Amino acid sequence: MSAESYDASRVRGLFPALADGYAYLDGAAGTQLPESVIEAIANAYRSGLSNTDGAFPASLRANRIVAECRQAVADLVGGEPEGVVLGPNMTTLTYRLAFAMAKRWKPGDEIVVSRLDHDANIRPWIQAAALAGATVRWAEVDPATGQLPSEQYQDLVGDRTKLVAFTAASNVLGTRPDVAAITATVHKAGALAYVDGVHATPHGTVDVRAWGADFYTTSSYKWCGPHVGAVIADPALLEGLHPDKLVPAADEVPDRFQTGTPPLADYAGVTAAVEHLASLSPAVGHDRRHRLVLAMRAVEAYESKLFSVLLGGLEEMEHVTVYGKAERRAPTAYFTVDGYDPWEVAKDLAERKINVWSGDNYAWEVTGALGIRDNGCAVRAGLVHYNDHTDVDRLLEAVATLRR
Ligand SMILES: Cc1ncc(COP(=O)(O)O)c(C=O)c1O
Repeated sequence: MSAESYDASRVRGLFPALADGYAYLDGAAGTQLPESVIEAIANAYRSGLSNTDGAFPASLRANRIVAECRQAVADLVGGEPEGVVLGPNMTTLTYRLAFAMAKRWKPGDEIVVSRLDHDANIRPWIQAAALAGATVRWAEVDPATGQLPSEQYQDLVGDRTKLVAFTAASNVLGTRPDVAAITATVHKAGALAYVDGVHATPHGTVDVRAWGADFYTTSSYKWCGPHVGAVIADPALLEGLHPDKLVPAADEVPDRFQTGTPPLADYAGVTAAVEHLASLSPAVGHDRRHRLVLAMRAVEAYESKLFSVLLGGLEEMEHVTVYGKAERRAPTAYFTVDGYDPWEVAKDLAERKINVWSGDNYAWEVTGALGIRDNGCAVRAGLVHYNDHTDVDRLLEAVATLRR
């Protein structure tokens, strides 16, 4: 399916929230839900839902919801359901994985983090490394382009490296590093790669095996699902990790990593969100993974075309500064407007029913590297597959009038 044949108006009609007249350019911070996902969550409750592992039907339904959710997430990223750890969000899961891994680290071991990342894929590693006495090394972002050069990992990664954490897409600059090139360097040194896929997953096809991601994270609320996060890993790798857990709680993988009673109805929503993404493919009669691959290719083509209009429009305005010029990028623009604090821009746009974010968006290190942290950072406007040219036109027209 080409960008031209992608039926954006049909897709928009699936989302009740979009009827409120706002241009939802805030998808990078969380997306709206299609009716099918809302229904799936409501139906999980309607049909009677109990905790898992009981003897009666409402509990068996709960078990089935968990299994279906793991399978759906595995299909979305090309992983195995036995390696899907579910949790409240990526941040919580990354803390859990980091502290489980740190039990195996010792002084002299090295961890590599990247300046491009959301803080959720930096701070847990730094804090876990501190506990183990391990050393932290930094991969730097090029502030002029917003790229994360892959070659630097040749020098950063060596015999002592245990783990390399980096993002598959920046949540502010949109930069998409060369994941496979970096993981190849990581694996040559015998280390593990922890890839933050929270911003990358909604914008294209993910293949954790082809990418060499030993651990891959995603959050369903960024791709039209509820607030549920996941880490996808090779089950054999998970077997070797032992997070703190309650004595009676399951010790099997991947349950070993999940704490407490899960939000089961939301898990049903995650499965429905994956089905929603798969439904964006025109292919019928194929398995879901295949449909997802095609659908996410179509989403990427559609979003890229729309984004080039958004980016080109902003870059043409003399009173606007756009950050990041990466060759490969997710459809996310980060910009400032001369004479305006970024928060003021967001407020002004909100009055015109345009939703954008301002500030660091937890991309703490990269906003420091860009030298904009002391000035309120920048404004973020991002596209997802339910945005269309009217959203982009409204943003460009509004920003064009912001002059002081
Ligand atoms: C790139 C990226 N990584 C990590 C996170 C944290 O995800 P969560 O909210 O699921 O903890 C976000 C959230 O915005 C993000 O954009």
